Amino acid sequence: MLEQVQSLLSQAKKQIEECQDLKVLNDIRVEYLGKQGKITNLLHSMKDIDKEERPKAGQLINSARQEIEGLIKDVQIKLNEKVLEEKMANEKVDISEPSKVIEKGEIHPLHKVFDKLIDACVSMGFTVLTGPEVEYDYYNFEALNVPKDHPARDMQDTFFITDNILMRSQTSSVQVRAMQSMKPPFKIVSPGRTYRADSDATHSPVFHQFEGLVVDKNVSMVDLKSMLTQLLKMLFGENTKIRFRPSYFPFTEPSVEVDATCPSCGGKGCRLCKNTGYMELLGAGMVNPKVLEMSGIDSNQYTGFAFGPGVDRLAMVVNKIPDLRMMFENDMKFLEQMK
Ligand code: PHE
Repeated sequence: MLEQVQSLLSQAKKQIEECQDLKVLNDIRVEYLGKQGKITNLLHSMKDIDKEERPKAGQLINSARQEIEGLIKDVQIKLNEKVLEEKMANEKVDISEPSKVIEKGEIHPLHKVFDKLIDACVSMGFTVLTGPEVEYDYYNFEALNVPKDHPARDMQDTFFITDNILMRSQTSSVQVRAMQSMKPPFKIVSPGRTYRADSDATHSPVFHQFEGLVVDKNVSMVDLKSMLTQLLKMLFGENTKIRFRPSYFPFTEPSVEVDATCPSCGGKGCRLCKNTGYMELLGAGMVNPKVLEMSGIDSNQYTGFAFGPGVDRLAMVVNKIPDLRMMFENDMKFLEQMK
């Protein structure tokens, strides 16, 4: 018996010492100590030996069993450490490596100007209203005092879809929709896309306007001037001055062209403003009483003013962009510069 135990023990020791793998180690444990294991079987065979020898044999087997268990535990700890070390080595994080740059999106320069205009006007109590880009001739022209064959139609090279349907050439169409759906007094602005058959450095077939309309009792040119001064100051800074020049629009009377001191030189004169110190920014005027009447507003009771800057032009001025078309090309190099 003694010999049997000793030979099993030394066999097991050798196997355990040579073992390099946790799975194999578990197999060894099962081989010796499992339910059908070699040591376990020895314990079962105790019933075949003499009664007097049993306690001694039992002791012997049990101490062999303990020794094997102990050895397995030691090797298990060592192998676990090895596995951990390998894992650490493989998953090492090099904190000195340069980090990846995550590209960040930006709001388009044109929309930044739209956002500023909208924020400024909402803070002054205006409601934002939008209208369709594919529009009836009636809203774009007729109801704005531009009947068919009126020479003023030549001011805008319009894309017609049918005789009566067109791509709106101005956001002034939304003025009419507002006047016909709202009861005065009201103040609305309407940002949006507009279309004309035009293309050069300062014109694009698709461009953007920002229409404003105020209808109330006793509204005058003074209100228009103070409101626009405030708006353009919010956009270009406190020191901005504005000036009115006489102009003509069929839907406003009197009509003006509005200039602001050049945001680049502050009015001293520079290349951007062609040394005039001023930038031409928008058309405006008092709503023609005929236009109010056509939309069912009593022009004896109410007056109104309207204004309509080209937003692309404002964005060009704000960002010193030389060619308007650059804003629609989605060239990443250009957009990066606008950040
Ligand atoms: N709609 C005019 C244009 O496109 C601008 C404008 C708007 C003029 C409102 C007066 C009042 O030229």
